[in-house]
Amino acid sequence: MNILVIGRGGREHSLIQKFSESSQVERIYAAPGNAGMEKQAIRVPIQETDQDGLVAFAKENQINLTIVGPENPLLDGIVDRFLEAGLQVFGPTKAAALIEGSKHFAKQLMKKYDIPTADYQAFTDASQAKEYIHEQGAPIVVKADGLAAGKGVVVAETVEVACETVDDMLLDGQFGEASREIVVEEFLQGTEFSLMAFVKGEHVYPMVTAQDHKRAYDGDQGPNTGGMGAFAPAAHIPWDDYDYAVESILEKTASALVAEGRSFTGILYAGLIQTDAGPKVIEFNARFGDPETQVVMPLLANDLAQVIVDVLADKDPNLTWFEQACAGVVVASAGYPGKYQKDVCLPQWAEHGVFSIHAGTENDGDKYITSGGRVLLVGAVAPVLETALASVYRSLKPFDDHYGFFYRKDIGRLVQAKP
Ligand code: AMP
Ligand code: GLY
Repeated sequence: MNILVIGRGGREHSLIQKFSESSQVERIYAAPGNAGMEKQAIRVPIQETDQDGLVAFAKENQINLTIVGPENPLLDGIVDRFLEAGLQVFGPTKAAALIEGSKHFAKQLMKKYDIPTADYQAFTDASQAKEYIHEQGAPIVVKADGLAAGKGVVVAETVEVACETVDDMLLDGQFGEASREIVVEEFLQGTEFSLMAFVKGEHVYPMVTAQDHKRAYDGDQGPNTGGMGAFAPAAHIPWDDYDYAVESILEKTASALVAEGRSFTGILYAGLIQTDAGPKVIEFNARFGDPETQVVMPLLANDLAQVIVDVLADKDPNLTWFEQACAGVVVASAGYPGKYQKDVCLPQWAEHGVFSIHAGTENDGDKYITSGGRVLLVGAVAPVLETALASVYRSLKPFDDHYGFFYRKDIGRLVQAKP
């Protein structure tokens, strides 16, 4: 098989690593990819949003399967284009990807099909939204309806902050079209975890749970980021709750999308909070999570290419998981998620007993230099999480006290939702 992976981040590198372990995969292409992928894949300089370019490339290069990493191309309808061109692709159509593209749509779907989530109301009018916030009190959560690169959610500790957020989003158009409408929802108390599944129509094949660390600094302080580290499985989630999340959230949502004429193919990702009343949804994504993928894929015992071929053919892929733990710590550019310097030379780090997944690197001679906010993830698999974390942190020493980088020292702790 020849496989095309669309994207350039850690998630895509992790998928490429997994595909490279498959005996049936001949060539892997990454569009546009990053420098770390060059060991396993051929990079092609086509942007993720260049649908014409990607379709033409897939046709010309006998691509048998295309995987779309990021959400933007999915919401732009790249899968529809590939399907129209008769190309095999694993990802949701534009209609199905709306579960990620519109928070209001996702909430309506959950309400209609009785899928556990926070209570909410949607608004386009600022004074109505503020009236609702005053009625409900704080803490309360304000979310832009559309895609806002992970920045469109404010967990407000006070009514004042919530109301200011409403003004920013609805009146000042903070996120443009994406915040023309907002969702105001109940604050859920509990620990967070993520659950992804391979999905085709009504068929749902769940993965192991994972936990992402979204805040920039230790102790879950600082701004939200694309993710500063992750671990899998989220072993604190009881099996009963896992089963409940699979049946009452993932399977129900997949069936709901079929019933709505938006049958979903691809990876359905549920961001969940483990409340006293069981798991509830805080968000859906229509793709692999980043950085969850980087810690979930190393635990998958199956051949990833075969899994996707089976799922697309309506066959049970018989997912099997190593009974081990995987931890991953992200090394980020100093200043991220704010302004940061690019082209910083990476120090040599020890790769013994760990794996490295690149997210924002380019080549400079025989060295790597930075090209993004999140630079790389160093991960390890071990019988217990503590051992995996110890290996990772040992190998990251060369990044200590380096002016160009920082990483969190407390990956592996439980993340509590908090205002
Ligand atoms: P999202 O972008 O929807 O994943 O939200 C970003 C972060 O906001 C999540 O990781 C949670 O920590 C927090 N969050 C979102 N919705 C809620 C909620 N209803 N209750 C508590 N925390 C939330
Ligand atoms: N880790 C959260 C996301 O991929 O959106």
